[in-house]
Amino acid sequence: MTDTAVFRPGLLAGQVAVITGGGTGIGFGIAELLAQLGAHVVLASRKPAHLDPAVEKIRNAGGSASAVAVDVRDADRVKTMVDSVQSEHGRIDILVNNAAGNFYAPSETLSANAWKSVIEIDLYGTFFCSQAVAPIMRQSGGGRIINISMTLHYRGWPQMAHATAAKAGIDALTRTLAMEWAPHGIRVNAIAPGPIPTEGVRKAFTPPPNSEGVVDLFAEERAMSAYAKRAIPLGRWGSPADIANMVAFLVSPAGDWITGSIMVVDGGEWLSRGQSN
Ligand code: COA
Repeated sequence: MTDTAVFRPGLLAGQVAVITGGGTGIGFGIAELLAQLGAHVVLASRKPAHLDPAVEKIRNAGGSASAVAVDVRDADRVKTMVDSVQSEHGRIDILVNNAAGNFYAPSETLSANAWKSVIEIDLYGTFFCSQAVAPIMRQSGGGRIINISMTLHYRGWPQMAHATAAKAGIDALTRTLAMEWAPHGIRVNAIAPGPIPTEGVRKAFTPPPNSEGVVDLFAEERAMSAYAKRAIPLGRWGSPADIANMVAFLVSPAGDWITGSIMVVDGGEWLSRGQSN
C-alpha cells in the first residue's frame, strides 16, 4: 500500500480510470493508488483469474473497483470493453496503457508469432485502447492517457527485439497522440519504469535448487541487493508504488501543462548503464 500523504485525499474523486493489465504488478500498484485517491478503477486484463482478487483487495481497502476481461490486441473487443465501461459509469477520465508481454529470446530464432504477439499486446493494444477512449474523453472536455514504456530501447537490449521495438513505437505514439489530441484537452504522457522486482525479474536472480531441491532465497536476496548497489545509482530496486506516484502526479491538476512527455522513473539506472556492469 502506497503512502499517499503527498497527494490530497479525494484528489480523483468521481473520476473513472481504466488500467489495462491492472490485475498484477505495476498495473495493480497504479490501480491501488488511483483508487485510494478516490477514482473508480476498472481493471482490464486478458486473464480474468487475476482480476477478482485484485478487485477484492482494492474494495477491502475502501476503494471502488471493477473488472473487465479484454484482449487489447483485438480492436473490436477493446471498443466493446470501452463502450461497456462508458455505459456503466458514464465517463472515462483516465486510461493507463499498462498491459504488456515480453520474454528474452534470441532475434535469429524468434518466431513470427512470438514477434507478433508482443508487438500486438504492447503497441497495437496501446493504440487501440487510446483510440477507443478518445471520443469519450473528447466529448467530456478532456482526459488523460498514460502509456507504460521502458528504457531498454534507449541503447538497445539484446534478446528483446520485439519489446524494445514495441516500446519505441509507444514513445512515438505518445508524442504524436499528444500533439493530435491536445486541442481536445486530452493529455498523453508515458512513464519509463526502471527495474521493478516482478516475478520474472526475481527468477533471473534465483539460484538453481540444491541437491535436496531447496532454493536458497537468501542468495537471491543477496544477488538482488548487490545488483541494486552496483547498477542503480539510487541504490535500491523500484516498486509499483514508485510508478503509481508518477501516474498520480501526471493525471492530477499538477500535470495540467504536461503532455507528450516520457518520464523516466528508474533510480538513475539507464543513465548509469555501461558504467556499472
Ligand atoms: N521464448 C520464445 N518464444 C516465446 C516465448 C519465449 N520465452 N514465450 C512465448 N513465445 C512464443 C510462443 O512460442 C508463440 O510462438 P509460436 O506460436 O511460434 O510457438 C508466441 O510467442 C505466442 O506465445 P503464446 O504464449 O501462445 O501467446 P500469448 O499471446 O498467449 O502470450 C505473451 C504472449 C508474451 C504474453 C506470453 O508469452 C507470456 O505470457 N509471456 C510472459 C509473461 C509476460 O510477458 N508478462 C508481462 C511482463 S511485462
